[in-house]
Amino acid sequence: QITVTDTPATPVKTLPDAQTVTEVTHWTDRLFSFRVTRPKSLRFRSGEFVMIGLMGDNGKPLLRAYSIASPSWDEELEFYSIKVPDGPLTSKLQHIQAGEQIILRPKPVGTLVLDALLPGKRLWFLATGTGIAPFASLMRDPETYEKYEQVVMMHTCRTAAELEYGRQLVESLRDDPLIGEFVGDKLRYYPTTTREESAQMGRITDNLTSGKVFQDLGIAPMEQEHDRAMVCGSLAFNHDVKAVLEGFGLREGANSDPKEYVVEKAFVGDGI
Ligand code: FAD
Ligand code: A2P
Repeated sequence: QITVTDTPATPVKTLPDAQTVTEVTHWTDRLFSFRVTRPKSLRFRSGEFVMIGLMGDNGKPLLRAYSIASPSWDEELEFYSIKVPDGPLTSKLQHIQAGEQIILRPKPVGTLVLDALLPGKRLWFLATGTGIAPFASLMRDPETYEKYEQVVMMHTCRTAAELEYGRQLVESLRDDPLIGEFVGDKLRYYPTTTREESAQMGRITDNLTSGKVFQDLGIAPMEQEHDRAMVCGSLAFNHDVKAVLEGFGLREGANSDPKEYVVEKAFVGDGI
């Protein structure tokens, strides 16, 4: 005997500013990345962030700031996200699957843009944790390599598994049919761990002040005339890196007042 269960069809609600998830990758139990469709009208500068989220239980959108991790030429948008176990948004967002929708407010903003820096020869990307997201965008933008002779990506996490998203991205760049020829051998990658034994270790601040990163890469120390930097991490990290950069003579700039370095928070709060 066949039992037919008649489930009432749930009306499909169209979210405001809805975009469809096309791909989700889980990197660790705390980190995942996902790609979504891109609104046709959305223009942004690599390095900027937007507000994204889900509809909350109260029927109001629950939105958070997210750096766009894909470059401005990409047909889709990519995001790299933390999973905060009891976080209002990410406790839910971490379960998102291809085919489902998120809300995306198409108003990109941010200070980590090439225009906010004076011309220079060498560009440093300094990130901890999910702070690599804006640089995942900028590392894939041809303009970065048109403007600079050399680009150094320093990324620090507690463990090697947390570096994996960035490591695979950097590895894929050299052979990328679209961006590979721009990258050439201009990009130097310096990943470090601080709480797990690995080939390269130590905090970004320590590796800059001790000169270890310059020695390991066989490059000249940082100086005001040619070096430019972009910083993205926790409040404490940003604060400490600023002091190191100022020590090398670099000054903080902004969109309206380009100088030698720019900073953005990777998140608000003390971290988890
Ligand atoms: P929330 O209530 O927002 O956060 C709870 C706590 O979790 C925070 O107080 C903090 O201690 C911790 N936390 C939040 N985000 C992070 C993080 N990324 N890394 C480590 N600890 C964190 N988050 C991303 O995952 N990817 C991004 O690209 C990104 N870009 C951002 C850009 C800007 C300009 C800002 C201000 C924040 C950005 N964030 C990003 C953080 C993001 O807005 C949310 O805080 C995060 O998605 C968690 O949301 P939630 O509602 O689950 O928890
Ligand atoms: P450490 O392990 O020595 O604290 P978190 O997971 O706490 O957000 O930290 C991410 C990475 O950033 C860790 O490798 C951590 O190193 C490093 N870090 C945290 N705070 C600072 C800081 N103030 N200056 C430099 N590096 C920092």
